Amino acid sequence: MRVSVLGYGTVGVGVCEMLEKAEGLELRKVLVRPGKADKPFKVTSIEEICADPETDAVVEVMGGVEPAFSFVSAALRAGKHAVTSNKALVAAHGPELARLAAEKGVGFLFSAACGGAVPFLHNLALAAESDRIVSVGGILNGTTNFMLDAMQRRGMDYADALKEAQSLGYAEADPTADVSGLDALRKIMLGCAVAYDKLPCEGFSLEGIESVTADDVQHFRAKGLVLRLLVSGGLNERGTLYAFVQPCLLPASSPEASVLKNFNMAKYRGENAGDILFIGQGAGRYPTASAVLRDLSDIAHGRREMMKSSCVRVAADNSAVEKRYYVRLDAALSDCLPFAEKEIDGALARGVTKAIPVTEMHAKAKMLRERGAAVFFAAMEE
Ligand code: HSE
Repeated sequence: MRVSVLGYGTVGVGVCEMLEKAEGLELRKVLVRPGKADKPFKVTSIEEICADPETDAVVEVMGGVEPAFSFVSAALRAGKHAVTSNKALVAAHGPELARLAAEKGVGFLFSAACGGAVPFLHNLALAAESDRIVSVGGILNGTTNFMLDAMQRRGMDYADALKEAQSLGYAEADPTADVSGLDALRKIMLGCAVAYDKLPCEGFSLEGIESVTADDVQHFRAKGLVLRLLVSGGLNERGTLYAFVQPCLLPASSPEASVLKNFNMAKYRGENAGDILFIGQGAGRYPTASAVLRDLSDIAHGRREMMKSSCVRVAADNSAVEKRYYVRLDAALSDCLPFAEKEIDGALARGVTKAIPVTEMHAKAKMLRERGAAVFFAAMEE
């Protein structure tokens, strides 16, 4: 299969290098920015790639929603298969692209958009064909996992841990997407779309790690607990879909606690299979490029679909899931939450709530912050 690559950044360079060595795959053209076409195979117009009869597939590794959406749509319309690593694109326009690919009888796969090298979406799509998927989730952001691990095991503070994650190339261009949980949310949106044929696109509960301090992490460490940013998606008993991202406290013996540095741990629970876990590098040039090549190989073997053309957008419903929450906040406001146990330490209150809906905890934290309070919360994952 002959492949043209849209984008020549960190992942694009990795994909090109791997294509040059891969058996059965051939690099045709690379779309680069105007003024950067310093070799004959580098081009600056998407039309040139769409019109190239010797390009069978495009790989989009530009990032961002536009012009990636226009370019991938144009390639699909021209009858090319498309593979992308771009979670923002698939979260925003996956259903349209899946429908266009199905109409044209070509492939549209996006393994690399969720979990880098971790073969999660690929296996989830296969599992969803033969088992009922009860839930999807795990650790899907390498930057925040790296930071929480560095704060826990190396005693780093938040700002230094973020700087190190950026310098190692794990963070997005704007790391707000990582620390706010948005990057992880986009990935669980894709997981839900693959597992349930439903793309949650509103009603999320989203809490990142921006409120955590070095003191919090050391406090948890002393109690034998480990903090991780976890994503969760699944079907409620009422048939609606839940999808949320929040910090969670786990026993040091849990599988999540053993996921260190920038690693991801994606998991699904099948009604018959039970829990299936995938651990590996969720970011970086070659890990992400390896997932792109796996998708190309899948297409070459006739596998065309990851998100079905029937996939619909839905609102998430997180009111039916209940958790107990560890909360740290100003002591003067601690009566605003239904604590089952709490300690007052000067101006601070710390404690664990009774089981409350995910939506209630997120709404209460928002309300308290609007009143100027500093609040940190994490679900207790016993
Ligand atoms: N910024 C992302 C992460 C890159 O840290 O996981 C891979 O999606």
